[in-house]
Amino acid sequence: MRYTVAVVGASGLVGRMMIKVLQERSFPVGELRLLASERSAGASLSFWGEDYPVREVVADAFENVDIALFSAGSTAARRWAPVAVEHGAVVIDNSSAFRMELDVPLIVPEVNPHALQDARPRIIANPNCSTIQMVITLKPLQKRYGLRRIVVCTYQAVSGAGQKGVDQLEDELQGRLPRTRAFPHAIAGNAIPQIAQFEEDGFTVEERKMIHETRKILEDESIGVSPTCVRIPVMHAHSEAVHAELRTPFEIDDVRALLADCPGIVLIDDPDATAYPLATMAAGSDEVYVGRIRRDPSVEHGIALWVVSDNLRKGAATNAVQIAELWRTIRER
Ligand SMILES: NC(=O)c1ccc[n+]([C@@H]2O[C@H](COP(=O)([O-])OP(=O)(O)OC[C@H]3O[C@@H](n4cnc5c(N)ncnc54)[C@H](OP(=O)(O)O)[C@@H]3O)[C@@H](O)[C@H]2O)c1
Repeated sequence: MRYTVAVVGASGLVGRMMIKVLQERSFPVGELRLLASERSAGASLSFWGEDYPVREVVADAFENVDIALFSAGSTAARRWAPVAVEHGAVVIDNSSAFRMELDVPLIVPEVNPHALQDARPRIIANPNCSTIQMVITLKPLQKRYGLRRIVVCTYQAVSGAGQKGVDQLEDELQGRLPRTRAFPHAIAGNAIPQIAQFEEDGFTVEERKMIHETRKILEDESIGVSPTCVRIPVMHAHSEAVHAELRTPFEIDDVRALLADCPGIVLIDDPDATAYPLATMAAGSDEVYVGRIRRDPSVEHGIALWVVSDNLRKGAATNAVQIAELWRTIRER
């Protein structure tokens, strides 16, 4: 069985990665429609060696589409995702537009595949990139030991802000005046403790996403989550210092063995050999890299970990295509 797939936001960083991942994973694409804004209409992108035109998104473009992979931001998602569903498509959206809606499944296939029960046309949300890598790491610990609270500091790559973020860092590194400004300050040479706008309580929108999405995916509204999200001058892959309070006692060696056994996780944890996850290691791969695992003696049942993953792949495109694969399994049952 082959599917008609639309990629909305095809010309962006995530969109182009989704096309690559569909090919890498040999997703059974019958017809591919590449959609973006009028700015990219007329461009072309390659899939299995063939050039496909990028068209401006219009309602008719969703005619007979089975799966619409959206990575065009919240405004475009709010406008076009319901139109795609009306045309009979299942939408997998990378924006934050629908993530917290009660009837919208928010899925990380390694963590909560059961949140998708049927293959009817609907919107499915792909979580925030920083949240995905954290919940993949914490789910096995939650299952075995219980999870009370998380304190997390992120070190996020500029590609998380899309093409504009990459352009700004490239220009600054070359000593050029930036073509565009994706960040409130120069990013070369800085760690900026602001991703998206601030809210009244002093947290940013990015931090708010980590709080609410984590609870929704881990299905426990009582989990305390205290994030600080920081942008750093790294091109690809987000790093996170995660401090978690578990509910029951644990042995560090058991945690290492548990995580080493989990699909989607690669353990790199040999401090004596200076071996721990790095952004350059994770960039270009689909795994979540975990290391620096140690007891946090400042709280009861405390554990500290360092978690790194490619934001464009597992944090966006790969996770979205894996959701499409999950949908396909249900559909073909
Ligand atoms: N970058 C990441 O690591 C990451 C991770 C998780 C989720 N996401 C989410 O994925 C989405 C895309 O991110 P990105 O990094 O790929 O950004 P990007 O590089 O800036 O690309 C944005 C894409 O959206 C398209 N677009 C913008 N406005 C549109 C409109 N009104 N109608 C149709 N298409 C429109 C753009 O088309 P034009 O080229 O024609 O302007 C472009 O293809 C965002 O919602 C972002 O929050 C990103």
